[in-house]
Amino acid sequence: MSQLFSPRADRRLRALGIIGAAALVLAAMVAFALSRSDGAWGVGTPAAQPIPFSHAIHAGRVGLDCRFCHATVEHAADAGMPTAETCLGCHSQVWNVSAQFAPLETALALGTPVTWASVHRLPEHVRFQHAAHIGAGLTCAQCHGPVETMARTVKVETQSMGWCLDCHRDAAPQSAALVAARHAQFGVEVPPLANCSTCHR
Ligand code: HEC
Ligand code: HEC
Ligand code: HEC
Ligand code: HEC
Ligand code: HEC
Repeated sequence: MSQLFSPRADRRLRALGIIGAAALVLAAMVAFALSRSDGAWGVGTPAAQPIPFSHAIHAGRVGLDCRFCHATVEHAADAGMPTAETCLGCHSQVWNVSAQFAPLETALALGTPVTWASVHRLPEHVRFQHAAHIGAGLTCAQCHGPVETMARTVKVETQSMGWCLDCHRDAAPQSAALVAARHAQFGVEVPPLANCSTCHR
């Protein structure tokens, strides 16, 4: 076959090809790292809230228990959010003096909940249960971090599937009762908390 390029040009083309391929691989690696980075999951980014609520003041300085406002966390899937009445138990005096509390007035007048922006919402296809986790002895801080120090509420964990599985695959904290129940149901020894159907509808 006749030579298309001079040997020198051929070497250069080959070198360029290798550099190009290396650049593509690097770009793919950077893109993958970015897509899995904490920032992509919204870690550390507060949501715009209708009222500038501070956990640092209420759960920190004032020292209110989490369950005072997230009342269903031990018994239901959802932790539950405080009603306008819960806030007004303390804030009725500043009711008319502070524009910050206007959304509470609206909620109370319309009989609707305050529309807090969600910080932690999982996709629709994932099932999560607070009651089961609290019942297994986990603390709020294990998943939500030191909320009582936060002036604005942020996520401290990605809450990605990998994050859930890191804990679910670890046999130690799995409840013996749950393992036994799944064994009876399926007749096989699989780590039940790592089953797709545990978390996906
Ligand atoms: C005085 C009421 C009150 C207390 C006490 C309280 N919270 Fe909250 N919490 C709120 C309100 C209001 C919001 C919504 C605004 C926000 O995200 O900051 C919220 C939001 C949250 C969120 C984010 C919810 C989401 O949609 O993703 C978490 C997590 C949370 N609280 C955990 C805690 C923990 C843990 C404690 C105890 C250390 C606690 N809270 C104590 C009122 C309270
Ligand atoms: C147990 C009483 C109590 C309850 C219940 C309560 N607060 Fe407060 N709140 C306080 C106190 C005390 C302060 C601090 C006042 C100060 O520092 O001057 C405060 C301060 C605030 C501030 C001002 C924050 C700032 O940065 O200065 C806002 C806004 C607020 N609360 C919203 C709420 C909302 C919304 C709820 C309901 C989810 C709520 N509070 C429930 C006692 C309460
Ligand atoms: C095993 C991890 C884990 C633990 C422990 C945990 N949470 Fe959560 N929390 C989550 C996840 C995941 C979500 C998002 C749930 C969803 O979107 O379905 C969430 C959502 C929330 C929300 C917002 C929406 C709602 O009503 O469910 C609040 C408020 C909350 N958690 C408070 C708490 C409090 C208070 C505690 C401790 C008593 C606690 N959580 C313990 C993982 C956890
Ligand atoms: C720090 C550990 C930990 C993390 C993180 C965690 N889990 Fe769990 N999860 C547990 C334990 C322990 C149980 C077993 C509770 C029991 O004994 O019933 C459980 C049980 C469950 C169950 C079964 C509840 C039932 O109805 O029996 C679901 C669903 C679940 N987890 C979903 C999730 C999802 C989704 C995430 C991530 C968003 C997550 N979990 C993160 C420890 C964890
Ligand atoms: C412990 C809970 C848990 C288990 C078990 C689990 N998942 Fe997930 N999965 C999640 C959560 C949380 C998300 C949403 C966050 C994310 O995309 O990582 C998710 C997301 C996904 C997605 C969507 C990914 C995307 O990019 O949108 C797929 C597909 C999926 N899971 C498949 C599976 C399969 C298949 C299994 C069984 C081998 C499984 N999951 C087991 C918690 C779980």
